[in-house]
Amino acid sequence: MTIESLSHFPDLQSVSSEQFWGLLHLAARLKDERKRLGANAPVCAGKALAMVFTKPSLRTRVSFEMGMHHLGGTALYLSPAEIGLGTRESAPDVARVLGGYCDGIMARVFEHKHILEMMEWGTVPVINGLSDFSHPCQALADIMTIWEHLGDPSKLTLAYVGDGSNNVATSLMQAAGKVGMKMCVVAPAGYQPDAQVLADSGADVYVSADPDAVAGADVLYTDVWTSMGQESERDVRLALFPPYQVNEDLIARTQNPNVRVLHCLPAHRGEEITDAVADGPASLLFPQAHNRLHAQKAILAHLLGGVALE
Ligand code: CP
Ligand code: NVA
Repeated sequence: MTIESLSHFPDLQSVSSEQFWGLLHLAARLKDERKRLGANAPVCAGKALAMVFTKPSLRTRVSFEMGMHHLGGTALYLSPAEIGLGTRESAPDVARVLGGYCDGIMARVFEHKHILEMMEWGTVPVINGLSDFSHPCQALADIMTIWEHLGDPSKLTLAYVGDGSNNVATSLMQAAGKVGMKMCVVAPAGYQPDAQVLADSGADVYVSADPDAVAGADVLYTDVWTSMGQESERDVRLALFPPYQVNEDLIARTQNPNVRVLHCLPAHRGEEITDAVADGPASLLFPQAHNRLHAQKAILAHLLGGVALE
């Protein structure tokens, strides 16, 4: 059965559960194809992806660039200094210009509205490579990792511990709604999920400020306490978040000897996660990072290569 095609990938609210699963199955197929045959079919041959960055990146930049390479296309890195998105040039103008040269735009931005403006004014698919609001590519790779290592996500509970109001937490809640995964967000007051985001996600989410609420979790997930763009709040956050560190004590509080740990990376080791956990037996941090490649190849193969979701 073919599923209705996507035109863009701005966040997961605009993706149906069928489309989300279609992307997961395509990602798994592309990962398997490359493992078995040593290469993927060049479904993006002759296609170019413009990668607009207003913030630093390791995973997003390299996995998108290598993803296009594996699919037979090319990717163009545009640094923060080059474009000056929203300062040197408006997002609508950037999108209209890039659409004449390239077949898709992946953008990492501060303001989510810049993603929406590029979609509105541009002529090629736009992919959100992280905004202050959401990080949908990350959540797709996260669910892929959970599905691979723990099985059916609808039978699992993920406890997200830390800044429950940030982009990664938001996309995880939206993803949880797509696959029926239960979530528990453990965060201090003032850093808990926005009520509208929670309601729109359709996910079964329990919110608490008490770290003991991780009891029964199958997956513990954390992210930096201070996201890019929030650096002026770092001291306040550093004083507030230590009870929410993912360490061996928090793992014990899940009362689950098989609990696995995820982190989108980069990690501030010694802050939101300890070395013992990040490098310990529960950690899936690096398989998770590697799945960014496969998950995004599914997005690229679909949006730029015309591969149907099924
Ligand atoms: N997780 C993630 O998006 O990493 P980068 O910031 O390195 O791209
Ligand atoms: N919440 C983090 C994620 C980095 C991948 C940030 O926005 O900085």
